[in-house]
Amino acid sequence: EKGDFKHFMLKEIFEQPLTIENAFRGRINQHLGTARLGGLGIPNFELRKIKQIHLVACGTSFHAALIGKYIIEDIARIPVFAEYASEYRYRNPIIPEDTLVFVISQSGETADTLGALREAKAKGARVLAITNVVGSTIARESDGGTYIHAGSEIGVASTKAFTSQVTIMTLLAILLGRMNYLSTVKGMEYISELEKIPSKVEKILALNEYIRNIAATIKDCKNALYLGRGINYPVAMEGALKLKEISYIHSEGYPAAEMKHGPIALIDKNMPVIAIATKDPLYDKIYSNLQEVRARKARLITIATEGDTELSKISENVIYIPDTLTNLQPLLTVIPLQLLAYNVADLKGLNVDQPRNLAKSVTVE
Ligand code: F6R
Repeated sequence: EKGDFKHFMLKEIFEQPLTIENAFRGRINQHLGTARLGGLGIPNFELRKIKQIHLVACGTSFHAALIGKYIIEDIARIPVFAEYASEYRYRNPIIPEDTLVFVISQSGETADTLGALREAKAKGARVLAITNVVGSTIARESDGGTYIHAGSEIGVASTKAFTSQVTIMTLLAILLGRMNYLSTVKGMEYISELEKIPSKVEKILALNEYIRNIAATIKDCKNALYLGRGINYPVAMEGALKLKEISYIHSEGYPAAEMKHGPIALIDKNMPVIAIATKDPLYDKIYSNLQEVRARKARLITIATEGDTELSKISENVIYIPDTLTNLQPLLTVIPLQLLAYNVADLKGLNVDQPRNLAKSVTVE
């Protein structure tokens, strides 16, 4: 039921304070600064021997995997490879011993992701699944895993499943990190910051009307560019995917520093550039990338951290969001991008919940 919401997608975006909490509830230990994911079915003495992780998925779930790579490598210092399932399954992947393979799928039915799971199992690897749909094929065929508990997602464009998947990536990073390089104190900080995320998401959702006004200014564009750096680079890719699939505006997500290697040639006054430039160690770097973009007259819309006073000097619109630890930022920075895509599509009068040519679960390869 959509309740008071015009579309399922909007309802699902607004559910995220609760669904993120559902993803970590019962899985965190504030006292020990750690997490537990019982469904993995792997005792800690075995988990700590893991030398490599493969994260395999399609579409939005693949973007969650890319973010997982940043979080897990930074917190747990374990090499992570994130790859599209359709590529992984057919390229004869090398899966050394002590590798954990995770497939990530909201529906648990995506054909390529299931194919990747079967390929990894055929090679003798241990394959775990991060899914939403209980009893789905991927959940059943895996050697264990974790449910994200997001509740059914009906809008074709994935929103709440994405933030729940990223939450699980964070828990996994903390769990593995605490077995290696992450101290109790640092682990406790991650846990307490994670617990603050739902109320921060709530604050961003309150900006919906403001974001709708920004959406009105880009709805007739033919193209859009999304930029980010570091952990917000995959978020830029996810923002671009949301816009293209429901509004049919061609959009691309790019790491901001790559602009000068080609894409900046596209920029003129008709090109909206949506940039994630929150306060993190790469802030100064992306700021100078954005100055270059601005010099070419792009319409710059930035996602900034509350209290930022610099970005308003070069941006047409700034969307201010609460601060958090760098590794937790994607849970916040993606929210305005979901709202922007939703409002653009709705203002264009499109069928937001069922975009053309797309199905909720892609059971053909
Ligand atoms: C985009 C979207 C798709 C899915 C992809 C994988 O909004 O929903 O890109 O993310 O088809 O689906 P699952 O996660 O069900 O395997």
